Amino acid sequence: MEVEILNPKTSKPYGKCNIESPKITVSELRQIIQKQIKNTPHADRISLKLEAKGKTLKDSDTLEKLGVRNGTKLYLKDLGPQIGWSTVFLAEYAGPLAVYLWVYQRPYIFYGDTTDAVISTTAHIAAACWTLHYAKRLLETIFVHRFSHSTMPIRNLFKNCAYYWGFTAYVAFHVNHPLFTPPCLMQVYGALAGFILCELGNFSIHINLRNLRPPGSKVRKIPKPDGNPLTKLYNFVSCPNYTYEIGAWVFFSIMTSCIPAGLFAFAGAYQMTIWALGKHRNYKKEFNDYPKSRKAIFPFLL
Ligand SMILES: NC(=O)c1ccc[n+]([C@@H]2O[C@H](COP(=O)([O-])OP(=O)(O)OC[C@H]3O[C@@H](n4cnc5c(N)ncnc54)[C@H](OP(=O)(O)O)[C@@H]3O)[C@@H](O)[C@H]2O)c1
Repeated sequence: MEVEILNPKTSKPYGKCNIESPKITVSELRQIIQKQIKNTPHADRISLKLEAKGKTLKDSDTLEKLGVRNGTKLYLKDLGPQIGWSTVFLAEYAGPLAVYLWVYQRPYIFYGDTTDAVISTTAHIAAACWTLHYAKRLLETIFVHRFSHSTMPIRNLFKNCAYYWGFTAYVAFHVNHPLFTPPCLMQVYGALAGFILCELGNFSIHINLRNLRPPGSKVRKIPKPDGNPLTKLYNFVSCPNYTYEIGAWVFFSIMTSCIPAGLFAFAGAYQMTIWALGKHRNYKKEFNDYPKSRKAIFPFLL
């Protein structure tokens, strides 16, 4: 069969492409388009839609399932230059490690001469927590996550790095400031215990998600608690990794009593809530037997 590929902005045709079987997936069709039609971008840059302003078709869907027939028109959007999915994560998480540990050294450029100013126990603990968190995320990106995407638009690299690196400098500047006043040690150690628990919970969910997907596949399943008690949060929410992540930053903010840390926790919570609501909606659409009692991110609330 033959399908016509159009530019969604101008509706001008890129050309036609011959397909042997309607059983091929959208991902395979992207490769075929790149091979058969001149002047089309690399397959990784192609997004295909059934309508000019419609949604991007899912890579794993077959043309048969989407109702694509002989003569169907498909719209091709060029997503622009791409960069490896993991590369973006590695860059955005390596920055917070380097920037925080640099500011922790109290560089002259920020604080002037600080030779006589003592660094508080809380500032040491905060630096250890920050390092633990981002070292964990770097290692998870390399050894744990099984991502289904290979690339993303290169502009995400600048956007994500600006967010993480910028917030890190803002938080680190205040927590490591010679005039920083730590709260009482009971509050610090209590919040530290909460932070560690949330980090363990977040890690447990990442392992649970990894085990859902066979290596090299893009399989998606309904996540469920496993033998690890920290995964029981799945009985209440669809994205417990986000719940734990928010918890970790709330405890970090309590531990340091620092407003910039609270703002970082709030910004992350806002973003993750939006993503969790989207993921929760998708789970309910994708799986008829999806547990009805689950909320998206905050047990019993949202
Ligand atoms: N502080 C912040 O502002 C902030 C913001 C966002 C994230 N984070 C942290 O970064 C971590 C990772 O974020 P994320 O947004 O990538 O998390 P995510 O969407 O939950 O994905 C984590 C991994 O699990 C896979 N996965 C998700 N649902 C699956 C399912 N139903 N079946 C099989 N595999 C599935 C994902 O693959 P796919 O590639 O298919 O999605 C990905 O490899 C978060 O847990 C959080 O700790 C922090």
